[in-house]
Amino acid sequence: ADALKIGIAGLGTVGASLAKILVERRDMLETTCGRPIEIVAVTARSKGRDRGVDLSAAEWFDDPVALAREAKIDVFVELMGGAGDPALAAVKAALSRGVHVVTANKALLAAHGVELAGIAEKHGSLLNYEAAVAGGIPVIKALRESLTGNTISRVYGIMNGTCNYILTKMEKEGLSFEACLKEAQRLGYAEADPAFDIEGNDTAHKLSILTTLAFGTRISADDIYLEGITNISIDDIRAAADLGYRIKLLGVAQKTDTGVEQRVHPTMVPLDSVIAQVDGVTNAVAIESDILGELLMVGPGAGGNATASAVLGDIADIAKSRPGAQTVPALGRPAAALAPYKRAQ
Ligand code: NDP
Ligand code: HSE
Repeated sequence: ADALKIGIAGLGTVGASLAKILVERRDMLETTCGRPIEIVAVTARSKGRDRGVDLSAAEWFDDPVALAREAKIDVFVELMGGAGDPALAAVKAALSRGVHVVTANKALLAAHGVELAGIAEKHGSLLNYEAAVAGGIPVIKALRESLTGNTISRVYGIMNGTCNYILTKMEKEGLSFEACLKEAQRLGYAEADPAFDIEGNDTAHKLSILTTLAFGTRISADDIYLEGITNISIDDIRAAADLGYRIKLLGVAQKTDTGVEQRVHPTMVPLDSVIAQVDGVTNAVAIESDILGELLMVGPGAGGNATASAVLGDIADIAKSRPGAQTVPALGRPAAALAPYKRAQ
């Protein structure tokens, strides 16, 4: 089968991890998806930097918009970040010529998601963004596909790995806020501007996307009550623990009699609750719905591999889809690609 040709814009924490996985697992992905996935074009700010993977076979573009507009690709993978250009112009250029887009960029979606979805619909292109919310947790798929037909009443959770990492490390290791933030940056968890993490904007961006999927409303990140974790001290964390609570930065969206309520703020959660046990970079998202009941998903919320895993899933969904055919193969891969069953000894 024809290879799925992809262009990657952004070869940082997430982009380089993704590229490595695509190269190292080429054969496995070809079997799973029924066709190879080839990186044919790449761009980043500095051309010469070692990305830890050989990308010499891919065409280099200095300009991400030119890549999106001109490269012979089926999928444009946007991993640069930022709500404005060049990410915005590049994603628009790709969608407008029928090229599918996969992005991890929640800031972009929070600001322009509705417009981009409209462009995608108009041109028959797909816009996939599983990695944009809660890293590797498949929460977009849950809301967009699995919970179809449910009426959702509330979505809430820990959606920023950097903040949860900081709060956990402050409590368990008694380290200062600044030292914990530095470590989160070193590990590749934080945004390019970490103020987005610690002031709660990143959680708000993610929550606004979940709100739209859950309640069918237009994205409205500006309507979110917002308070970050910059004022939380070790003393606050200890005082909460004495009372039987742990402090977590939560995003909450719920239906009320009058509309949708969205808020992001540090919250005291009871020590014996599941969400209180979610430590470090781990995220947790709870979805309350009428047919299924409460769904709680817990998993890695940031970092190169965790995020690349979600990006890869989005690319694989496109690779597996065929015009006019079922989008997702019933057993996750073509039946002919299933390996013979071997019983464990
Ligand atoms: P990085 O800062 O590590 O990487 C950004 C990449 O984009 C770099 O390769 C950079 O080039 C390139 N880039 C930036 N600006 C431009 C530009 N104007 N033109 C061309 N290339 C550009 O970011 P991350 O990998 O951490 O994040 C990427 C996206 O994924 C963001 O939207 C982020 O919010 C999102 N995300 C990140 C997660 C994480 O854990 N890190 C988790 C979930 C989502 P160069 O390397 O040459 O500087
Ligand atoms: N900076 C983000 C976080 C990356 O820490 O959660 C994942 O979206």
